[in-house]
Amino acid sequence: MEAAAQEGISVQDEAVDKSKFKECNQIAFYRRQKLLHPGKSSYRALLDSVTLSDDNVKFQIIHEENKVLLQVEIWEIEGNIFRLKINEAAPLRARYEVLDVLIKEPATQRLSISHKEAGILVLKSVNEEYKLQVTADPFQIELQSKNEIVLSMNSNGLLYFEHLKPPPSASKTTAENKEEAASDSSKEKQEDLGLWQEKFGRFLDIKAHGPSSVGADFSLHGFEHVYGIPQHTETLLLKNTSDGDAYRLYNLDIFGHKIHDKIGIYGSVPFLLAHKPNRTSGIFWLNSSETLVDISTKAVAEHVPSRSTAETAKQRVLPRTDVRWMSESGIIDVFLLMGPTAFDVFKQFAQLTGTQALPPLFSLGYHQCRWNYEDEQDVKAVDTGFDEHDIPYDVIWLDIEHTDGKRYFTWDKKKFQNPKRMQELLRKKKRKLVVIVDPHIKVDPTYTLYSQGKDKGYFVKDRNGQDFEGICWPGSSCYLDFTNPEVRKWYADQFAFKTYKGSTNILFVWNDMNEPSVFRGAELTMQKDAVHYSSWEHREVHNLYGFYQQMATADGLIKRSLGKERPFVLTRSFFAGSQKYGAVWTGDNTAEWEYLKISIPMLLTISIAGISFCGADVGGFIGDPEPELLVRWYQAGAYQPFFRGHSNMESKRREPWLFGEKNTRIIREAISERYILLPYLYTLFYRAHTAAEPVMRPLWIEFPGKIDTFGVENEYMLGNALLVHPVTEREARTVSVLLPGSEEIWYDFRKFKRMEAAGTLKIPVTLENIPVFQRGGTVIPLKTRAGKSTEWMIDISYELRVALDAEGYAKGELYLDDGHSFQYLHEKQFLHRKFTFQKQVLSSSCRDEKGQYRTTCIVERVIILGLGLQPMSVTTCLKDEKEEVVFTYDTKTCALMLEKLALSVGADWEIHIK
Ligand code: GLC
Repeated sequence: MEAAAQEGISVQDEAVDKSKFKECNQIAFYRRQKLLHPGKSSYRALLDSVTLSDDNVKFQIIHEENKVLLQVEIWEIEGNIFRLKINEAAPLRARYEVLDVLIKEPATQRLSISHKEAGILVLKSVNEEYKLQVTADPFQIELQSKNEIVLSMNSNGLLYFEHLKPPPSASKTTAENKEEAASDSSKEKQEDLGLWQEKFGRFLDIKAHGPSSVGADFSLHGFEHVYGIPQHTETLLLKNTSDGDAYRLYNLDIFGHKIHDKIGIYGSVPFLLAHKPNRTSGIFWLNSSETLVDISTKAVAEHVPSRSTAETAKQRVLPRTDVRWMSESGIIDVFLLMGPTAFDVFKQFAQLTGTQALPPLFSLGYHQCRWNYEDEQDVKAVDTGFDEHDIPYDVIWLDIEHTDGKRYFTWDKKKFQNPKRMQELLRKKKRKLVVIVDPHIKVDPTYTLYSQGKDKGYFVKDRNGQDFEGICWPGSSCYLDFTNPEVRKWYADQFAFKTYKGSTNILFVWNDMNEPSVFRGAELTMQKDAVHYSSWEHREVHNLYGFYQQMATADGLIKRSLGKERPFVLTRSFFAGSQKYGAVWTGDNTAEWEYLKISIPMLLTISIAGISFCGADVGGFIGDPEPELLVRWYQAGAYQPFFRGHSNMESKRREPWLFGEKNTRIIREAISERYILLPYLYTLFYRAHTAAEPVMRPLWIEFPGKIDTFGVENEYMLGNALLVHPVTEREARTVSVLLPGSEEIWYDFRKFKRMEAAGTLKIPVTLENIPVFQRGGTVIPLKTRAGKSTEWMIDISYELRVALDAEGYAKGELYLDDGHSFQYLHEKQFLHRKFTFQKQVLSSSCRDEKGQYRTTCIVERVIILGLGLQPMSVTTCLKDEKEEVVFTYDTKTCALMLEKLALSVGADWEIHIK
């Protein structure tokens, strides 16, 4: 290991020290905003200024003290979304507005004025379900659905907008400046408020354009359960922040982050969901600067107007959650997603930011990573190890040490003498390689990437206009400015096979350290006063840096294949919309039980914020897991979207066969279960891609009316059919599982047994596996066995697992395509089948007639769970051909097993049970 890297590690180790990171009260704009307390807002709407166009409604609001005018714009967007923008009416210079996150300019619908009276403006939506009531004094907006208030803005008077001002010295005479210095805004106080500069330890942030913080409060009426705004090491349900830190959205590299902390780590999605039994709503705060979110839930007495004169007005007590967003800069641009169901909210968010990219099938297999697989021999040995131990896997990963001195896109020539040969070996094994490509570029004039980047002016600049230099793995580094479209194009071109020497089409990419991580920088990241493309300061775009790198990388991989192949890019840093570019993982976790436990709510939170393809390092990155923890982590990871084992350089080797025969066997079984499950998982990803349904789901999404599910975070649904309860306690003998829904029937996924009843059950567990249940009413497509990798499994036959509900009904689907190209999109090379079990008949039919894909694969096995009576006969019907089938029926479990079938996956057929 090189000196520079060693230095990097020691810097990382120091980073565990919390004093490296800010507490909320060390953040100047937060302190300034917190000087504004709930109460009457100083903003008044000038309703005479209202203008209405086909597109939106505009009016101005004025601050009663400083008299600064703000422009308010309100849009109704197709599909139950409202957008509210507030900007200065006449700013001194343009304020930053987030680019590239919305997939297109949203289609708007005309709002009309329902009525206008003194001080009140009521707007109505096209479908008349929604009304927006704007109150002038104090300025406030209420959003009603069928006369029920769902959401209001500025009802706590916390609308906050720092208008841009000339620097004190520029706009005033010396006398004025002196006076100001002596007045209550004395220098000391100014410093404390951090208006023009802010200190943190030895770091000084100079705010060339002065203070520009924005904030607003939203009240969610009747809601007491709120979720989202990843990424924190926190519970699924967002907590009240009244007595402590706000949730921070600021992408930071925190090595060995603490658990149950509201500090921001790695990625940010400023999207919050609120749920109550009959409604889900969302708030998407589109701002990429540092953001803090305060949450407070309380019971409030609401006045219910009397219906008749005889009736006296009533009060009812309802929960209400107040959410206060505070950002360092930019404008207020907020989308209110009105649901009304959770699935509607997911669709609405995807309509704005895009859906999950459809991953290449291999990337849903198991990934074996380590910092580092040392050299070609090591790669070969690990790859062989999987075969020798009969463990399926798809991808081996190379961390930073594979490069020539942390110069990305190069190889350490001693350790990787012939990278193409190594990839050919992997290709023969039908496996892939992922290599790391970080955003920092070693300062080295002999390194082409650096010299070109420098010559072209592609690096982020410091406040003096020089290339910003920071320390990262290679030592002194510059940082590519991915916010510049030209840089992104150039970067994408670096992945061309001709340019990236030693790369082949089985090589895919991992973007790390892209918060960006800057060792020895303030909070280990880039100075906020660094300067990007179009002269925007880093503070404006900080949370978008990683988003842009992954965007450029994914584009590069698509381009190198001439637009034909789907990319795979894993990123550590992310923002709203990152789902379009690939996968994310939760960063540097620790090999402890608590980290396994918290990984579930962390992944659920990321999932409902639009990013389905997510996972945590299996085993825990830092430290050495005891074998039992490692086994439990594999068992959990096998049922999570992104499944990768990874370990730190200082951890002991951790290949699955190093922990004794028994553990090897159990891990093999866990990974094999994952491979058998792939048809279902791939189908779920197709649904995420086309219909924005999260792959991994909190229970409440599937059971929106069941309050007992709202806070559950130790188990989850994989799609709508499987309930997974990872074991996260050492030496667990039993776990307490909630099987929700009194009308539901649940089946043990492995033993086929119907569970006695829904509710909370004590389930005995052994080390062999974790509890998984199939929900009655569903059909799950599986493979009949696992293979060495996904590509080895193409021809392996399918099994259908049919779990009947109380009516003896079940349905499910299967999506398949070539697993790697875009032909599913351009040439409709896909197959989407539907399976229905009804009146004792299982039928396979086409779900999407557009699909053209041909496969010779067959359904070989069908297992029907919960069939009350032993059948007399079972017959398959394919066109006019009928055939009797041999079957076995287990009277104890009521499971019917049909084997040795040969029903074409692409054909319509039926199975009749009599
Ligand atoms: C960061 C990543 C980790 C990686 C290491 C070296 O700590 O989070 O996954 O192994 O850097 O590249």
